[in-house]
Amino acid sequence: MRTQSFDTVILGAGAAGMMCAIHGAARGGRVLIVDHARNPCEKIRISGGGRCNFTNTGATARNFLSANPHFAKSALGRYTPQHFIALVEKHGIAYHEKTLGQLFCNHSAKDIIAMLLDEMAQAGCEVRLSTTLEKVGCSEAGFSVTLGGEGAADIVCRNFVVACGGKSIPKMGATGLGYQIATQFGLAVTETRAGLVPLTFGEDVLTGFREISGVAVDARVSCGKTAFEEALLFTHRGLSGPAILQISSYWREKQPVRIAFLPGQDFFAALAAAKRENGRRSIATALGELLPKRLATHLAQTQGWTGTLGETTDKRLAAIAATLQGWEVFPIGTEGYRTAEVTLGGVDTGGLDSRTMEAKAVPGLHFIGEVVDVTGWLGGYNFQWAWSSGWAAGTAI
Ligand code: FDA
Repeated sequence: MRTQSFDTVILGAGAAGMMCAIHGAARGGRVLIVDHARNPCEKIRISGGGRCNFTNTGATARNFLSANPHFAKSALGRYTPQHFIALVEKHGIAYHEKTLGQLFCNHSAKDIIAMLLDEMAQAGCEVRLSTTLEKVGCSEAGFSVTLGGEGAADIVCRNFVVACGGKSIPKMGATGLGYQIATQFGLAVTETRAGLVPLTFGEDVLTGFREISGVAVDARVSCGKTAFEEALLFTHRGLSGPAILQISSYWREKQPVRIAFLPGQDFFAALAAAKRENGRRSIATALGELLPKRLATHLAQTQGWTGTLGETTDKRLAAIAATLQGWEVFPIGTEGYRTAEVTLGGVDTGGLDSRTMEAKAVPGLHFIGEVVDVTGWLGGYNFQWAWSSGWAAGTAI
């Protein structure tokens, strides 16, 4: 096999790899991007319910988890949500803010993929799909890369960029190969675990949850000192919904999760007023006017809140209100990488230059996107990290 020469080889044609390729090739470099999948950007395609929540207007390093909370500041500060929005607007893609600064395509996530492919074609970057990495090594001349599959070749390059994501959703092509490459080159990898993922419960709790499966309610969900106020969803497998996905990234085994239903609602005042109005109503009925009815009935049954409002002392009403504002549940686990939106942990940022994403000890080797120990909240933050870190490496190679 004849050896081919490129300035940069990027492993992974996802959000981060594409962004890096665009900026690397636009600066005149010969860039090759390879992916073992048949199509690029599969996660973009399914993201945001098919509409891709492509950024969050308020994204800063505070919205990310990492062993070094400062690491993401440089890339996020230099390639901001506004830069990506300008790109989206340049391509005439219509979008809207759904909630909390989250921007979604009006039409389809495929618009974002088409935009990236168009930018890549204009920059003159080569793409090889259904192509695997067989081997990568480092020599005086740079990196020697052996590719298999449809784009099989021996390649030498100055830069090798690892953009192959984390372990979440193996069915969609996630392999965790990036962590192995980091280890091969002597970089540390922090503990990885599933993030933005539904929480699971023991059979004792689940029996009750199944009865109210499908019920959604606004809640303040907290774990330790971290709290999120968004919707919570009961499912036949446990708890899900944005508030739960958010807190799952902070939850550790054996910790309780505290749920305050309807943040801002003064349950004691509301129940006391209902008692004054009509004391013959049951507690469950009164709660059903505040909370979704099925949830109110379930809580009344499982918590033993029987009787009428008239029979209930104010002290007991205060205790009921306190439970509704601090209901503690103990998950037994998460649904794991099978459904997790992201992988927490990854390539230790201590070994990387935050301006260029280059490995400090291995010139030319870069890590970008989800493979790095930088994980965003739900709400467009993870794509913004992919764009920002991809841009940081792309403009440095
Ligand atoms: P990404 O996973 O996108 O790309 C990695 C690429 O590398 C893939 O194309 C893969 O095939 C390839 N690859 C992997 N192993 C390989 C190997 N061994 N050899 C060759 N190629 C290999 N975020 C957000 O901000 N807004 C949203 O709306 C959503 N929605 C969402 C929905 C769902 C269902 C999921 C699973 C995730 C999201 N996310 C999200 C998270 C977001 O998708 C994620 O953070 C980014 O895709 C990460 O971008 P990367 O480019 O780092 O990895």
